[in-house]
Amino acid sequence: MIMETMTQKAFTKTVNTVMSTSALHRRSGVPRMIAEEKEVRKLIDDAEQDVKADDLKEAGKKLHQAMQIAKNIGNEKLLNYIHEFIQKFSYSTKAQPVELSPTETDGFILDIGGGGEGIIGRLNGKQVVAIDTSERELEETQNEALKAVMDATDLKFLPESFDVCTAFFSLMYIPKNKHLKVFEEVHRVLKDDGKFLVWDVRIPERYGDYKAFIVRLKVRLPDEEIETGYGVKWRTQNIEYFKELAQKTNFKIVNEWSKGEIFRLEMSKNV
Ligand SMILES: C[S@@+](CC[C@H](N)C(=O)[O-])C[C@H]1O[C@@H](n2cnc3c(N)ncnc32)[C@H](O)[C@@H]1O
Repeated sequence: MIMETMTQKAFTKTVNTVMSTSALHRRSGVPRMIAEEKEVRKLIDDAEQDVKADDLKEAGKKLHQAMQIAKNIGNEKLLNYIHEFIQKFSYSTKAQPVELSPTETDGFILDIGGGGEGIIGRLNGKQVVAIDTSERELEETQNEALKAVMDATDLKFLPESFDVCTAFFSLMYIPKNKHLKVFEEVHRVLKDDGKFLVWDVRIPERYGDYKAFIVRLKVRLPDEEIETGYGVKWRTQNIEYFKELAQKTNFKIVNEWSKGEIFRLEMSKNV
């Protein structure tokens, strides 16, 4: 999932446009596949203009849409073409292995930015309340978590509601100037003995002409292995940065782990 930022409304609108264009072409005898291939190529051309204008958010929306269409028509060649285009302006890490098992708790788990692959929801199912600012991301997520459109800087829960909060490669998607508020909100909604678990990636100083940073992951769950990638506009961050935020918001670091480019922090509210 690369630079996922499109609103549901915009997405529906564009997909509807694509569909009506295809229907038109069907009626006029142009094979549907060709119409859709053309649409994908147009989206890529437009995304190229967005990248040139440094509007990666807009480029991300178009590329996501292009990928969905290419996947729907099962066109591997087009998918490769999109990936090659993304590689032109994005740095990708090697696939980072990360092994996960369900979090041991009897209570509820709040998963921040729980759309996308919905990894935490896959692990802990109905115990998870997944919140995300993107309705579309939540709709595309396949797990048993309860899903709600909500901003992590403004959690609509009473204090001390959750035993565990998680952020699986979500903080990298949230602007740095919002992180302090997110940590404060998580602290507020956690129970006294609650834990905050963060998985994220070290993003070094920008180099070359790369505009975006993609962390590729090989996520090993008890029953399946998922290969995915999370990409954002380039900005630096590392484990020390998140540890400072923890300190500022009165979390105690109880465990930390890092391997390759990625890391995990386990913080406790109980000081
Ligand atoms: C790429 S996902 C992270 C991976 C995801 N946890 C998974 O299991 O695949 C990051 C998500 O954070 C969401 N997001 C960005 N800003 C947010 C915010 N302020 N509050 C909640 N979610 C946010 C994005 O919409 C995106 O779906």
